Amino acid sequence: MRMYDLIAKKRDGHELSKEEIDFFVENYTSGDIPDYQASALCMAIFFQDMTTDERAHLTTAMVDSGDTIDLSSIEGIKVDKHSTGGVGDTTTLILAPLVASLGAPVAKMSGRGLGHTGGTIDKLEAVPGFHVEIDKQEFIDLVNKNKVSVIGQTGNLTPADKKLYGLRDVTATVNSIPLIASSIMSKKIAAGADAIVLDVKTGAGAFMKTLEDSRELAKAMVGIGNRVGRNTMAVISDMSQPLGNAIGNALEVEEAIDTLKGNGPEDLTELCLTLGSQMVVLAGKADSLDHARQLLKENIDNGKALEQFRTFLASQGGDGSVVDDPKKMPQAQYKIELPSQKDGYVSEMVADQIGISAMMLGAGRATKESEIDMAVGLYLHKKIGDEVKKGESLLTIYSNQQDVEEVKTKLYENITINESSIERPTLVHEMITE
Ligand code: URA
Ligand code: CA
Repeated sequence: MRMYDLIAKKRDGHELSKEEIDFFVENYTSGDIPDYQASALCMAIFFQDMTTDERAHLTTAMVDSGDTIDLSSIEGIKVDKHSTGGVGDTTTLILAPLVASLGAPVAKMSGRGLGHTGGTIDKLEAVPGFHVEIDKQEFIDLVNKNKVSVIGQTGNLTPADKKLYGLRDVTATVNSIPLIASSIMSKKIAAGADAIVLDVKTGAGAFMKTLEDSRELAKAMVGIGNRVGRNTMAVISDMSQPLGNAIGNALEVEEAIDTLKGNGPEDLTELCLTLGSQMVVLAGKADSLDHARQLLKENIDNGKALEQFRTFLASQGGDGSVVDDPKKMPQAQYKIELPSQKDGYVSEMVADQIGISAMMLGAGRATKESEIDMAVGLYLHKKIGDEVKKGESLLTIYSNQQDVEEVKTKLYENITINESSIERPTLVHEMITE
């Protein structure tokens, strides 16, 4: 087999076989196929797309390029949730204990990474003592005992994806639906999920800015998952403005606690119930989405979800009493209000730019070396569609530096107040189940 022929075949719009895709992934990972040939193939895929079979073969080949996590000694169907990324997305912190409280095992491998705020692990580390440095056996034992555990990334998962993603990043081939879909799905499958719920974001703060692109990506991922034997569903949800009210690490843990008590922001609560219902159905703990939603609501109302969170935190060294007193987490020195400059209605809150404002305060990592300040961030008092009076606070800035003028300027630039009223954005656009 020659790489040259594979490139020409895809360039001319033909379908690559499983053997051809395996040949490419194996030999690119080992270094026998050079970057210039791999980039030519990525560009050909960018223009010619891939069939569902090709996408599934690419995903499987990338899974097979490295280690996989074996979760078979955990009883029950392991459902993983993946979000394509947004601002203030606190859902994992809520869903892990909430879904586990219904007996569905949540075995979560999570990362740190760059971003507006920390990843799930960083956020959880705002809880004094909490840590994810546990070995694999302890992780599995904890899931069997408590139904939920979170571990840091271990093993050499999907090296083919790492290498290919790096190449795509510098060859203008990131934005290709088959390549994104196989990249994301390969990581979820290698991490051991039996079933997968995808939260595909759409809007300014998302990877996919339009509903059409988001729908196509969601369908591509659901198609791959089901083709390779992992039950997969997707939700397309709004990321034109940040999700919930809190953006920041300790602030988001507190928001998760509020939500588990039934006092969370409306949008965050609704998205958690939507995603959670899919997880519970896929885990076989309810036979319909409606029934699952009812069970989830019950466990919020009767306190079981909150108790599950307390147990989970304590089982990994954390102070479980933060669920009673969130102020035990790091607190910012300064709380500075951002008053509205006029009367009207909030018509725009550009999600990614608001996220960057939180990062400027120290809530996220700008580079791999940056240190996160757990205490800082933003708390929104107004969201799109809300009425506001001049002088009324739009949000509170939680900061450990007194001078936040630069952050304030950026926030004002990205929050628009209009004279006429405007509807709230649709939160859940679509559910894609096959
Ligand atoms: N995220 C991924 O993991 N892979 C992509 O290709 C794009 C976004
Ligand atoms: Ca939030």
